[in-house]
Amino acid sequence: MNKVLILPGDGIGPEVTAAAEVVLQALIETSGFSLQVEYGTLGGQSIDAHGVPLSDECLSRAKDSHAILLGAVGGPKWDGIERQLRPERGLLKLRQELDLFSNLRPAILFPQLAAASSLHAELVAGLDLMIVRELTGGIYFGEPRGIEINAAGERRGFNTLAYTESEIIRIAHSAFRIAMARDKRLLSVDKANVLEVSELWREVMETVSAEYPDVELSHMYVDNAAMQLIRAPKQFDVMVTTNMFGDILSDAASMLTGSIGMLPSASLNADSQGMYEPIHGSAPDIAGEDKANPLAMILSISMMLRYTFSEHALASLVDSAVSKVLDDGLRTADINDGSGKLVGTAEMGKAVANALLTNG
Ligand code: IPM
Ligand code: MG
Repeated sequence: MNKVLILPGDGIGPEVTAAAEVVLQALIETSGFSLQVEYGTLGGQSIDAHGVPLSDECLSRAKDSHAILLGAVGGPKWDGIERQLRPERGLLKLRQELDLFSNLRPAILFPQLAAASSLHAELVAGLDLMIVRELTGGIYFGEPRGIEINAAGERRGFNTLAYTESEIIRIAHSAFRIAMARDKRLLSVDKANVLEVSELWREVMETVSAEYPDVELSHMYVDNAAMQLIRAPKQFDVMVTTNMFGDILSDAASMLTGSIGMLPSASLNADSQGMYEPIHGSAPDIAGEDKANPLAMILSISMMLRYTFSEHALASLVDSAVSKVLDDGLRTADINDGSGKLVGTAEMGKAVANALLTNG
């Protein structure tokens, strides 16, 4: 039986999750795809209930699921808590414990939303970029780390940016395989002009590329990549990079598409077990107001169908349903340029579910 653990989380997380569940339910009704759904708490929600951002019970349930659907975590309510107990820690622990090293962050511009981008429409029309971000290594997890008092009696904060060869090899394979299924162009982003760890990264990417002769591998320094993303984003097909560079570049890429509210993500381990989440945060300023865009969460379901369950046809059904409601002019506030029909979170979810039921 396909097992999914749903973690609604904080802020707008529960609302976008509820809207996405309506779509999931419609999918189950039309397709006969079966799913055993369980629920858990993560982040602030878990801190309030259990005193920790990720309980052992939730972690073991996550390990026991094929896929996890996550809303969002964090918010000002928990900002003052000590670092080890912050909501984000729960997310990072889940990534680490499930070994979800391969983070796929597509930046796809729905043609209906070209005007919502902060770039000129012609620069982004047709944009379809995939960022493959290494997610369980690098500076996020490197040791030693901490804040100490140094010999001069001054406070000193430090983190470690390190990658082992095997960590680079596995994310390289992940990225090359994605590139094989697309336009067969892979760009590796590093800072090899300054960092030894990047030198190794680049060397290993080259070595692995020998196994994928059909994929054209190129390299770019991260500062240039940031600039090129804004200058001419359509030059890219698949980008692979380290944990922190990927964190930054994927936020920049998301804005090219008009709204961070449109973008899903997948975090996968070697067994295709995955955590699926919108790349937007918990947006506490609009939480509980039925204003959030649930489409990133709904598209996360599509990624789950594709990458964990290999249900490509069903995934396309969800994508088409999203496209249909955009064609119909339905817009949440974040993607509304004034010409569309403004709808709330729940209504958007229902509209996608209806599109699924009528098309599917
Ligand atoms: C992301 C987020 C997280 C990260 C935070 C919430 C820990 O920004 O998923 O991009 O930095 O990885
Ligand atoms: Mg981020």
